[in-house]
Amino acid sequence: VNHLLGIKYLNKKDIELIFETADHFKEVINRSIKKVPTLRDTTIANIFFESSTRTKLSFELAEKRLSADVINFSASQSSVKKGETLIDTVNNILSMKVDMVVMRHPNPGAGIFLSKHVKASIINAGDGAHEHPTQALLDSYSIRERLGEVTGKNVVIVGDILHSRVALSNIFALKKQGAQVKVCGPKTLIPKYIESLGVSVETNLKKALEWCDVANMLRVQNERMDISYFPSTREYTQQFGVNKKLLDSLDKQIVIMHPGPINRGVEITSDVADSNQSIILEQVENGVAIRMAVIYLLASKIK
Ligand code: CP
Repeated sequence: VNHLLGIKYLNKKDIELIFETADHFKEVINRSIKKVPTLRDTTIANIFFESSTRTKLSFELAEKRLSADVINFSASQSSVKKGETLIDTVNNILSMKVDMVVMRHPNPGAGIFLSKHVKASIINAGDGAHEHPTQALLDSYSIRERLGEVTGKNVVIVGDILHSRVALSNIFALKKQGAQVKVCGPKTLIPKYIESLGVSVETNLKKALEWCDVANMLRVQNERMDISYFPSTREYTQQFGVNKKLLDSLDKQIVIMHPGPINRGVEITSDVADSNQSIILEQVENGVAIRMAVIYLLASKIK
């Protein structure tokens, strides 16, 4: 397979290979060798149809650290605005001898669709409420770094599960590595099919936190929210927000994660987000090594 379209299509060995490759790149970066010549003859296009800070910059940095040539495309400043289709857009970019496309798109399945219609390696950088595979890889990698391994750990994903590509990709990644997974959030934001993925549901946050080793606090995605799904922000924070008092009431120190961007004071308070229980910035740091690994492994298959 020359694409990374979703964690659904990976197995445990694929994930381990990505982590071992990322270990190597992280070690290289930590030795202050910020650039390796590996992909000097590869050109990568980052095409973003939705806003991004972390994913876009992290992919660009990963590509540059591998010495690839990089072009960046933002739909809002492009001829998509004049009505050009996705396939025409990408085929025009590919005609400039581009080898690989990293795409974020608001439509679920956009990367899968593209992979069937163009001749390039596609990396899904988030497709609507479907998957965000590199986020789930960097999340599991960060758990492995903090706790030694992912296998056997209890992980709760808290919040808006229904609209979350981070939740779905994390569920696939964690289950494939042998972690136990719970989701916790308002009933209206938990999809009916979730238990068929081997995940249990808990609507009481304190009980979920007492059970877990790791809590991944999702952002409330107001931009994807139909008002009928959602309790008021104040109710949400009271029932599903994590704060220091709640964490201090547990008889253990759990690891706190968040994919970013954070709604400070809604799903997580600043004293938790910025505490040493939080690995939020480690997640971002690890994202570069994970994306270097994914790009390197895919590029070695297309050359
Ligand atoms: N975690 C994440 O995908 O953040 P961005 O939307 O800023 O890329």
